Amino acid sequence: MSDKPVLWITRKLSPATEARAARDYEVRLNPEDRVYSGDEIVAMSSEIDAILPCHSEIFSADVASRLSDRVKIIANHSVGVDHCDLPALKARGIVVTNTPDVLSQATAEIATLLMLAAARRAGEGDRLVRSGQWTSWSPSFMVGTQLTGKRLGIVGMGRVGLAFAHMVKGFDMELHYYNRRRLPPEKEMNGVYHETVEQLLGHCDVVSLHCPASPETLNLMNSARLSLLPDGAILVNTARGSLVDEAALIDALKSGKLAAAGLDVFQREPGGNPELSKLDNVFMLPHIGSATRETRDAMGFRALDNLDAFFSGHEPSDRLV
Ligand code: DGY
Repeated sequence: MSDKPVLWITRKLSPATEARAARDYEVRLNPEDRVYSGDEIVAMSSEIDAILPCHSEIFSADVASRLSDRVKIIANHSVGVDHCDLPALKARGIVVTNTPDVLSQATAEIATLLMLAAARRAGEGDRLVRSGQWTSWSPSFMVGTQLTGKRLGIVGMGRVGLAFAHMVKGFDMELHYYNRRRLPPEKEMNGVYHETVEQLLGHCDVVSLHCPASPETLNLMNSARLSLLPDGAILVNTARGSLVDEAALIDALKSGKLAAAGLDVFQREPGGNPELSKLDNVFMLPHIGSATRETRDAMGFRALDNLDAFFSGHEPSDRLV
């Protein structure tokens, strides 16, 4: 019998992460990379001291209430923790951590890609070439929106929002932002601060969402708020699908209120929204904001750093509850 803590890694993580975990913990792995149900998580919990899950495992209030007393910490391999009922886990005395910072650049890259792809009709163009239907060229062919000089509105100027604003500086866009708190002047990048999302939206040719999922941000982009955008605006979402009312988005894309959207996240994941898939002016990716080799290693290591701190009697740096 080893005296190492027993750690359950619920999904297949990067080889470097799994190797480091095996050095310091008695590890239970998931070689099939299957998503476990709440009942399976509860059943497993009596055999483990710690869980290292992804956002695919749901720790609802019900699951939290049934977890074994043996589980002391949930060290998430994600920055978003909307899959965890934090008050319920806190009530059980379970420590919860996440992995901020390390995925900001990778997610900003995907936001940049989505903004460009939506503005310049990349999905439509790719489909045309692949299908052999690219048969002519004309000056009015596949004309999109130029980004240079346009107004970029960022909703949520946290780590990812800021990384995105820095990354796209070369487009010379006029920066506007909404954040719960105004940033100090040295961090604002000459951006114009708006006290409400509603105020911001009238100033956005492109709006990009970077706030966490919460009851307050559920359907943040509903039909009333979408109607505040200038005609022909572009919506980018790399945060969470719950931020966008997809029925309202579909209406706005069909009517031309929005010229295009670039989405990495959806209300239903995996799978997406079949009605969105019918529209040419949407460019979609399957929730891959943080999916680079470098970032996956960094996320795994950050989660392990939190576990190491906890099991050596220190405060994990990314402790949420
Ligand atoms: C996150 O870390 O929240 C990403 O969405 C991947 O889970």
